[in-house]
Amino acid sequence: MCGIVGYIGNQKASPILINGLLRLEYRGYDSAGIAVMESGEISVMKDKGRVKNLYNIKGIDDLKGTVGIAHTRWATHGVPSKENSHPHKDNSGEFAVVHNGIIENYSDLKEFLTDKGYKFYSQTDTEVIPNLVHYYYNKDEKDDEQRLLRAVSRVCKDLKGSYAIELIYKNKPDMMIVVRKDSPLVIGKGYKENYISSDIPAILSFTKEFYLIDDNEIAVLTRDNVEFYNSDLEKIEKKIENIDWNATAAEKDGFDDYMLKEIYEQPNAVRETIGSRLPEEGVCIFDDLKFTKEYLSSINKIYIVACGTAMHAGLVGKNIFEKLCRINTEVDVASEFRYRDPIIDDKTLCIYISQSGETADTIAALKLAKSKGAKTLAISNVIGSSITREADYSIYTHAGPEIAVASTKAYTSQVVLMAVLAIYFAETLEQDNVAEIKELKRDILSLPGKVENALKCNKRVAEFARKVFQEKDMFFLGRGVDQTVALEGSLKLKEISYIHSEAYAAGELKHGPIALIEKGITVVGILTDPKLVEKSISNIQEVITRGAKTFIVTNQELLNNNFEMVIRIPEVNPLLSPIVSVIPLQLFAYHISKEKGLDVDKPRNLAKSVTVE
Ligand code: M6R
Repeated sequence: MCGIVGYIGNQKASPILINGLLRLEYRGYDSAGIAVMESGEISVMKDKGRVKNLYNIKGIDDLKGTVGIAHTRWATHGVPSKENSHPHKDNSGEFAVVHNGIIENYSDLKEFLTDKGYKFYSQTDTEVIPNLVHYYYNKDEKDDEQRLLRAVSRVCKDLKGSYAIELIYKNKPDMMIVVRKDSPLVIGKGYKENYISSDIPAILSFTKEFYLIDDNEIAVLTRDNVEFYNSDLEKIEKKIENIDWNATAAEKDGFDDYMLKEIYEQPNAVRETIGSRLPEEGVCIFDDLKFTKEYLSSINKIYIVACGTAMHAGLVGKNIFEKLCRINTEVDVASEFRYRDPIIDDKTLCIYISQSGETADTIAALKLAKSKGAKTLAISNVIGSSITREADYSIYTHAGPEIAVASTKAYTSQVVLMAVLAIYFAETLEQDNVAEIKELKRDILSLPGKVENALKCNKRVAEFARKVFQEKDMFFLGRGVDQTVALEGSLKLKEISYIHSEAYAAGELKHGPIALIEKGITVVGILTDPKLVEKSISNIQEVITRGAKTFIVTNQELLNNNFEMVIRIPEVNPLLSPIVSVIPLQLFAYHISKEKGLDVDKPRNLAKSVTVE
């Protein structure tokens, strides 16, 4: 849950490192630091707070070193403080390390090292790493080129948990070593220089050529070279991946915040997700999937497993798979699925949704299903992300980089991709719902325009947000698919406005929660499914009677209009309606957060990628 950057080359390292960290702040931002090789010493500069605070550290501008490592932290062990910030050195000050992940057995390792006379100055799990490297390095009697590599590899054998580690050693100033297990790490290749980062966009302005490091691989970097080793220290070859992304796609494009930019990118994101998979004539195409009718007929259950917003997208996907393919589909939260001994076998298809592709619980849930013989399919936005490398099959949303912590375009593109995937399944299965599928295809192709249209509500939503931004509690209600989008609207509001909210199936209200409805409370109603709108309206009237202010998102003409605000959105097939109805809800959360003067893109206590349990 942290971001790491590294540089080895001929340019001044510190600005490159800080620039990279700024782009990785979505991974955590409670403290930051850099370590640079400086005239035969390792100079560490770090502090509590955001990356930009590094500019206030005296002497940071004077660092001339051209080799360095850097870190932006999201605390797991030890409070955010200067002492707990990375980089961490060993007791001798010869080795410096940054680390992303969690060392689960750090207490045992600390005890082991303490017995050997090592001292610890932070509350972090990370500090055991440089000291262990020092220990094994000095224990090794063979003083050859491989000595440091051997020490790092030996340390990894002791570590339990997840890690992406960068290490520099004072007596080898022209090299650095990196290693990863269950934590993201990429190497960017330049001319006589090399870069390291937790993700590709952070260093995309420096290079387009990347090596993707796999679990338990170690890389040794010099200015001119990158060598890779497996855990037995056998040399391995890796191919360079050319990443054809535009670095400016990751900038704000004139919007105040990444979140608003990403909300407005949705028409295009949806278009990109559909891509060429849904030709106007003929069957749906997935280049990367070669499922046969025989295989799909053998599946008796689909599991969709994910976290947060991705899980909410899964709930919409469940309806679509069940309706089109008639395959029993269950949705589960990855952190629950992985520990509840789910019933899965080789007749189960497990679909994992993750924007980042790095969510620890989702990856663990995927590994569990694989171990039980199920086939696994990953839906991700990040090419080469960990989840896509673990899964049997991977398909991408192609929504472009999502930087804001609050997920928006990832959600809409995930739902679209599941709809297209369900059509692909239904067509491969030769289901007899040809007319229904044909109509749904037309609806999917019309989505970019409808999302564009829905965005026109921005001003009116902002107006309502100004009226209610000081409230403490809100409710989101809906039935059927509208209930799934209520969950997403409520999550958006919580995470960026810090207003408590509950999402409920509208029909459940009178089984308890209606007791909380009192004068002045805001209730958001989502009413899009023509079959259920009347029923939901009755529930909304019940809260109005008890004094609630109502904010209604609908694609229907509502006659009896005693609602505070009605946002009319374009009509679409009910299976797909969340892709359109979520837009006003995203904007609602956004404007409330802005009214409250909060940091929309980096809400408190949250990180973009949850790479620890
Ligand atoms: O990268 P992932 O899609 O796996 O992330 C899953 C959740 O952590 C994520 O959707 C989270 O709920 C968002 N912050 C919600 O906006």
